[in-house]
Amino acid sequence: MSNASIGIFDSGVGGLSVLREIERLLPNESLLYVADSGHVPYGEKSADHIRERSRAITGFLLDQGAKAVVVACNTATAAAVAELREQFSVPIVGMEPAVKPAAAATRSGAVGVLATTGTLQSARFAALLDRFAGSVRVYTQPCPGLVELIEAGELSGPRVTAMLREFSAPLIEAGCDTIILGCTHYPFVRPILETVVPEGTSIIDTGAAVARQLAARLAQRDLLSQGPAAQTRFWSSGEPKALEQALPALWRGNAAVLQLSF
Ligand code: DGL
Repeated sequence: MSNASIGIFDSGVGGLSVLREIERLLPNESLLYVADSGHVPYGEKSADHIRERSRAITGFLLDQGAKAVVVACNTATAAAVAELREQFSVPIVGMEPAVKPAAAATRSGAVGVLATTGTLQSARFAALLDRFAGSVRVYTQPCPGLVELIEAGELSGPRVTAMLREFSAPLIEAGCDTIILGCTHYPFVRPILETVVPEGTSIIDTGAAVARQLAARLAQRDLLSQGPAAQTRFWSSGEPKALEQALPALWRGNAAVLQLSF
């Protein structure tokens, strides 16, 4: 079992920002990646719809032999991780905006969160703030339209720059010196975000922490692979060719992408 694969999914290409951290930390692990691009964006969909997709995709990954599943999407974690853990017995690793490290890092006492509407409106996010924000002021900002640009391969240029300027401005005005990337798509536009916020603003992404959490969960159950890793396999519920074309910019190379049939 320990040489079995790890399944990873997201609404689209965003989870590749998590996959690359998992590859870096756990090079012996074989990975399976599902982009639910036929249903992107999750951020504007109902929690019921996201739960249904998350259940079906997790079932598919387990059918492919996955020994653990990473929900590489903040929105799907908020909507579905509790239910997935009830339904499936393998380790399920989710992710949420990094409020705890941001609250520890801020010097101004104000932290900003860029995330989807779905994540920011979720009960899980409210509980996260209750638990970890303490006396730190947390300002939230949904980013409608940004995921769509990233899905279309637009990682820079005037539209991305204008959007990031617009979304970060209220946070900067409120005095935030720390900005959390609360959506797995956003690390791909981090270089542009860095150019529109004041120098010295900390930008926090959760991919590496999720990889560490995954490693700990696998170690606990004696499920770490001894390697060698098999080739990473990809599926898309959207247009497989689109993901094939996007991979070189978002991952470390080319790969064939299979059609997810549901
Ligand atoms: N990448 C996702 C997240 O981390 C969701 C983006 C979307 O589909 O709206 O929240």
